[in-house]
Amino acid sequence: MREQLEKIKEEALKQIEASDALERLNDIRVAYLGKKGELTSVLKSMKDVSPEERPKVGQMVNEARALIEAKLEETKNVLARKAREEQMKREVIDVTLPAEKGNVGHSHPNTIALEEVERIFVGMGYEVVEGPEVEHDLYNFEKLNIPANHPAKDEQDTFYINKEIVLRTQTSPVQVRTMEQGKLPIRMIAPGRVFRSDEVDATHSPSFHQIEGLVIDKNITFADLKGTLAEFARELFGPETKVKFRPHHFPFTEPSAEVDVTCFKCGGKGCRFCKGSGWIEILGCGMVHPHVLEMSGIDPEEYSGFAFGVGLERIALLKYEIDDMRLLYENDIRFLKQF
Ligand code: DAH
Repeated sequence: MREQLEKIKEEALKQIEASDALERLNDIRVAYLGKKGELTSVLKSMKDVSPEERPKVGQMVNEARALIEAKLEETKNVLARKAREEQMKREVIDVTLPAEKGNVGHSHPNTIALEEVERIFVGMGYEVVEGPEVEHDLYNFEKLNIPANHPAKDEQDTFYINKEIVLRTQTSPVQVRTMEQGKLPIRMIAPGRVFRSDEVDATHSPSFHQIEGLVIDKNITFADLKGTLAEFARELFGPETKVKFRPHHFPFTEPSAEVDVTCFKCGGKGCRFCKGSGWIEILGCGMVHPHVLEMSGIDPEEYSGFAFGVGLERIALLKYEIDDMRLLYENDIRFLKQF
């Protein structure tokens, strides 16, 4: 038995010495000192030892256990220290290295263009207001002089929540919402997302953005509209920019016009950018229809005003010379970083 104990002890110490990981030490502890461990089984066989010998053997077992435990503890400390040192080495920070550049995001071209448009109009005393993207058919169509059977409603086919509620097809309903508040005069722009059931291509998307503009006051004339939009175009595209008003039809303005600007790429001579015409269309506008004023509780005998609607993507595409609208929605950082 004495020999057996010696052997167990030696074997345990050898194994402890040879172990190079903390987990391994635990295995050894279990194998020798655990409930089913080797040393424990020696204790269990004490019944075969003569009564006189028992205390001695018992003492030997205890000594062996103490020794193994001490060795385990010591080795554990050594290994733990080594592991810590290695970790410190791995995680050493060289404060002299150049700092890693933080990955800062980048404003979307739409956002840059919108901020520019807002800057121009706020500079002219306009307020920036917002309206809901989910809108009543009443505001999106009826109160803008587009009754149920009007063909303009077809052109702006949209997504219906139910019969009375739609995803707005234009930011023009914000005109109605602003007028209905009854605070006059009005000088506002209303940027926001709009929706149409259009297929995606280089110039269309089922969801895009517009910026609405509305001015209502006494004695507002078409001259005010012209002057304002000419100034806007010069600010946005450069001081040489000229504007052209082409007669058009919108149900909520009368008279109505579409506005073209001289191509800022060729200065009006005609190029690939303006498809040879020298002009680029940028927005729709007109004098607010008296019936629209009336429906919003404003007396058209006393007040008049003008309105306009700009496609934000259109401005961004033109200003930054982007030839495919889809690029604006893909959020590829390599693309966005260029502006
Ligand atoms: N809402 C029109 C559209 O989406 C654009 C527009 C035209 C807005 C004339 C106006 C306006 O305010 O006066 O096509």
